[in-house]
Amino acid sequence: MKIVVCENYEEMSKAGAEIIADLLKEKPKCVLGLATGSTPVGMYRELAKKNAAGEITFKDVTSFNLDEYYPLAPTHDQSYRYFMNVNLFDHIDIDKERTHVPDGLAKDPAKMGEAYDAAIEAAGGIDLQVLGLGPNGHIAFNEPEEELYAGTHLTGLTESTIKANSRFFASIDDVPTQAVTMGIGSIMKARKIIVLASGKGKHAVVAKMLSGRITTMCSGTLLLAHADVTLIVDKEAFEG
Ligand code: F6R
Repeated sequence: MKIVVCENYEEMSKAGAEIIADLLKEKPKCVLGLATGSTPVGMYRELAKKNAAGEITFKDVTSFNLDEYYPLAPTHDQSYRYFMNVNLFDHIDIDKERTHVPDGLAKDPAKMGEAYDAAIEAAGGIDLQVLGLGPNGHIAFNEPEEELYAGTHLTGLTESTIKANSRFFASIDDVPTQAVTMGIGSIMKARKIIVLASGKGKHAVVAKMLSGRITTMCSGTLLLAHADVTLIVDKEAFEG
């Protein structure tokens, strides 16, 4: 795993955007795997700036997001589809028809998950996957469990995740207790992965990821088994 330690959140955001920009220049028709949450917001802002400046274009890009709350409509202002529109898609020249977020209203989530993974494969697989790290070490919503799913699936959210994400909702009771999420296999098939982490709150998880040991109780550590992962952290996340 390659580690890039940045001075602060802003530098981390720029470093992440730089890697994505390089890929877009090299392969304009690439497939991006995208994450929501607070961590990548600055990087998305940087990408929108580069797009506005004409440095990069997303017009031939296809994207697949990691996850979506369940059940939640894509029009809900806390949905991850809404988040992606507001934080990235509305500010870049991407064709929204080619942006994908798991269906938070799927009647049959297992079937939806299979179709989602098949769509990723049909698009040629993910060239670059962006990940954040949950305070409990999760990637996407692969929560600490003895057994994890390989493919996109419906999952329950742990109390710690519900609590961490309640900051975006009016009350903790409004936070959905389930989500549809890419599984570990869907993520590990990506050709390249960048993981962003910022702030002291992520230090314990970053330390665990650097411990050299793998456990499904901290799904971020599974990335140690991937051949091309870059962990981009700020000093606070790195040093604690
Ligand atoms: C988001 C996702 C989550 C977040 C993680 C960190 O699509 O899959 O795993 O990346 O919970 O969230 P933030 O960045 O808000 O700390």
